[in-house]
Formats: sequence, C-alpha cells, structure tokens
Amino acid sequence: MNASTSAPVPPPDRYGVVGHPIAHSKSPFIHSRFAAATRQHMVYERYDIRPEEFEQRLREFFDEGGCGLNVTLPHKEAAARFADRLTPRARLAGAVNTLRRCSDGAIEGDNTDGAGLLADLRRLGVPLAGAHILVLGAGGATRGILAPLLEQGPATVFIANRTAARAEQLAREFAEQAGKHCTLRGGGFEHIPADPADLVLHATSLGLEGKVPEIPRAVFGPATLAYDLAYGTTDTPFTGWAREQGAGRVAQGLGMLVEQAAEAFFLWRGVRPDTESIRHELQA
Ligand code: ATR
Repeated sequence: MNASTSAPVPPPDRYGVVGHPIAHSKSPFIHSRFAAATRQHMVYERYDIRPEEFEQRLREFFDEGGCGLNVTLPHKEAAARFADRLTPRARLAGAVNTLRRCSDGAIEGDNTDGAGLLADLRRLGVPLAGAHILVLGAGGATRGILAPLLEQGPATVFIANRTAARAEQLAREFAEQAGKHCTLRGGGFEHIPADPADLVLHATSLGLEGKVPEIPRAVFGPATLAYDLAYGTTDTPFTGWAREQGAGRVAQGLGMLVEQAAEAFFLWRGVRPDTESIRHELQA
C-alpha cells in the first residue's frame, strides 16, 4: 500500500438541539458557524422530539455515540431528570439546556442560560453590583437566571408575577443566594415598588400573545435598561412598550441566545467562539 495514503477521517462528533416544535430554532445556524470558525470536526442537527418519546430518543442518541445536545421547550425539566448528574447551576435552575457525554460515560446536565444573560448584560455595559433589578415572571425562565444574577451582588431584586405566590416562593427559595447584602422579594404586579429600576428583565410568556404585563410606568426611567429574554429581529412587544413608557434603553434576548450557545459550545469543545459577528448576522 502507498505509504503516503492518509488515515481515514473519523466521522464528525454529533451534536444537536431537541425541542417540540424545533423548526424555527436558530441553534443549528449558530453552532454551525461556531464550528466553522473554530475548525471543529462536528455536525449539529435539530431533533423534533415529542415529550412521550423524549427519554428513549435521547438514550438512543447517546448510545449511538452522540456527544451533546441543547435542550429547549418543552423539555428543560425532563432533561434535568434524564441527566446522570447536574452541575450546581443546573440544579439551582431545576432545568437543563445543555447535555454532554463526559469521559466516564455519564451524561451531565448543565444550564447556560444565566451565564448567557450575564455575558450579554456585560456586553451592554450594565453594572449589576449594587443595582436595583425588577424581574417580571416567576416561571422556568426566571428560575434559570436568578442565581447567576444574585451572584453579581445587586442591591435589590424584586420578582413580580401575575400569581404573587409563585414569586414569593421563588424569593424564599433563593434567599441563600441573595445573602445579607441583597434584598430579594417577590409579589404581584401591584406590589412592584414605584421607583425606576436599573434593569427590568421580562421573563413572562405574555409576548407570545403579543401582550405586555401590567406594571407601573414609574419603574422605567432614563437610566433603565428594559431587557426581554424573548427575542425577535426587531422590538418585541415588551421592548417596544417599555421604550414608550420611558425606558432609556431596551434590548431583546438575541444576544443572550448567542451567548448561551457559546457557553454550551465551550463546555463541549473547550474553545470559546467569537459571538459578535454572528449576533450581527442574526440581527440583520
Ligand atoms: P417559562 O418557562 O417560559 O418561564 P412558565 O414556567 O410557564 O414558562 O412561566 C410563564 C410565566 O409567564 C409565568 O410567570 C406566568 O405567570 P403565572 O405564574 O401567574 O402563570 C407568566 N404568564 C403567562 N401568561 C400570563 C398572563 N396572561 N398574564 C401575566 N403573566 C402571564
């Protein structure tokens, strides 16, 4: 045989995103760009998986050598149950958006949503230490970001929710992460302190219906950043409305989406992709 014959190229490492529905996910585009930019030998596909087949299909994916998966609605809690072990931040979030097969064969569940939000807020130049933060919504999205936010040392965090009891419950659950220097409280929209906040984070699912939460106008001031965890190519219902109410700046969650993907990519491949160019591309 010719000594110069090169060794066969191994098949690419397999990754993907699971959700239901999943057709509109931007993750395959984002991760393919990351892989090309960092020269990783991998493929990333989308998997439309119904809740009742979630466990079996994931088992097959990993048994067949799959290396990692992103997980989106409605599977984030199921993924936390599926994982053999959880990182501390995934345990606190009670939800998993990234699964990876570790060298010992175990499937580890992580949650990069909070880290993605923090990275995007850093990009936007929002100081969180000593900040007054209002979080709207007390569902899974809020649970995923609370611990990383509290770690940044804000002065106050008020969680406001239609169902006040859910917000109060979250405030109790995260009291330890808040520590003694942060006042963490929860309540209904009618209990929101009528002062401008430095940061108003929108984490309800109301935008899907084109609606916004009923909160006092006084929370928006010229120095307020109103940030929607949901994203669109232009304003979301919340960011458009917040600007009208007097918020000095608004941002939507496209940046967070790209940053949580970069964090997942880093977990899998050990390299940090550049996020700026792809964010611009998605915005365009
Ligand atoms: P997610 O994982 O997206 O956070 P979720 O856990 O179902 O989804 O939470 C949805 C959030 O949107 C909750 O805060 C919910 O408020 P309730 O806890 O009172 O249900 C909020 N939400 C959904 N529909 C709403 C509506 N019509 N008005 C106000 N808040 C709403």
